[in-house]
Amino acid sequence: MTERCDLLITNIHAATMDPSIAGGYGAVEDAAVAVTGGRIVWLGPRRELPDTAADRTLDGEGQWLTPGLIDCHTHLVYGGHRAGEFARRLGGESYEDVARAGGGILSTVRATRAASAEQLYRGAEPRLRALMSEGATTIEVKSGYGLELDTELKQLSTARRLAQHHPVDIVTTCLAAHALPPEYDGRADEYIDLVCEQILPAVAREQLADAVDMFCEKIAFSVEQCQRVIDAAKKLDLPVKVHAEQLARTGATAMAAKSSALSADHIEYITDEDVALMADSGTVAVLLPGAFYTLKETRVPPVEKLRAAGVSMALSTDLNPGSCPIASLRLMMNMGCNLFGLTPAEALAGVTRSAARALGLCCSRGVLRPGLRADMALWPMDTPDQLAYELGALQPAQVFLGGRDVT
Ligand code: NIG
Ligand code: FE
Repeated sequence: MTERCDLLITNIHAATMDPSIAGGYGAVEDAAVAVTGGRIVWLGPRRELPDTAADRTLDGEGQWLTPGLIDCHTHLVYGGHRAGEFARRLGGESYEDVARAGGGILSTVRATRAASAEQLYRGAEPRLRALMSEGATTIEVKSGYGLELDTELKQLSTARRLAQHHPVDIVTTCLAAHALPPEYDGRADEYIDLVCEQILPAVAREQLADAVDMFCEKIAFSVEQCQRVIDAAKKLDLPVKVHAEQLARTGATAMAAKSSALSADHIEYITDEDVALMADSGTVAVLLPGAFYTLKETRVPPVEKLRAAGVSMALSTDLNPGSCPIASLRLMMNMGCNLFGLTPAEALAGVTRSAARALGLCCSRGVLRPGLRADMALWPMDTPDQLAYELGALQPAQVFLGGRDVT
């Protein structure tokens, strides 16, 4: 019997990223993929394709098909920029020095509070487009530059509005516990009360956040304060993620793993015990080489130990005006290999399969497999190794979001 489908792509090689297919890329050479209702319904070697009638057939001309890329950690919506701080850091001041002097995150808080929703939207749009132009189909966006209810809501609703007007999926995260706002100077516990009792419940009520994040660090909040934020998020049924161990060992990753957090992000300073806890809990290690590079850090995350323990490693831009003003997930793949020692296949898994896990979305995307969303990118390359290796000229020939061509 002839099967029907909406879209049939033949004459491709598929880097499925499916771990049940041998080889780092889960490669199926000389493949075909059939899509119906926005989902993959068949994928396999072309010679095994059942008799299929398609509304649209596409000759992939021997190109490689990958899952749509996923940027699982961005601070994409913010006011202003921090080029002046960049110059200060080049002159010898550290990220922490700048933050303690009232700059850093707090300078972006001032600019974000002062910006209208429209200004935030227009500022974020080119960054979003830059990520999309590299084949990103799902992007996480955090708040955290408001540190007061109205501005946190303004950031999150701007992220939702960007998704309404661009062919991309945006997942939002409330990061109200990002820094201590100046009006709470010396009263960090009271600010955490505000986050737990007012900001998170309001954000949940308005359905503006899909998860909750926090910055656990000497220049931000303690493990005890972050644990309160986690408990409040859990009461609201929101999953959690933690900015952990970026500048020093704090115990944040152990807390994250024990709380079954989706991910612990940065993690340059984690210990062997933290790695074991992450492996047990399934907490994803989100590696952020762009922030490491921008801040000229020297301590790398323990990639070999994470790999040996079977911890999923995602890679993300951390796109933000301070520690990573770089809207390129492909550059992060390159840095993940060159700076952190990932293989090119691990780098692609980091921006697809593992990034989906870091967002709690591995049931729907991140791998090319029947039943999952047809979020896909088609690349004019000879081998998927080129994705981590080659920057600038290599662009996706076509991008599909839920089977729709959004190139
Ligand atoms: O992930 N670590 C905290 N937050 C961001 C930096 C934000 C900023 O500097 O504005 C990060 O690196
Ligand atoms: Fe971040």
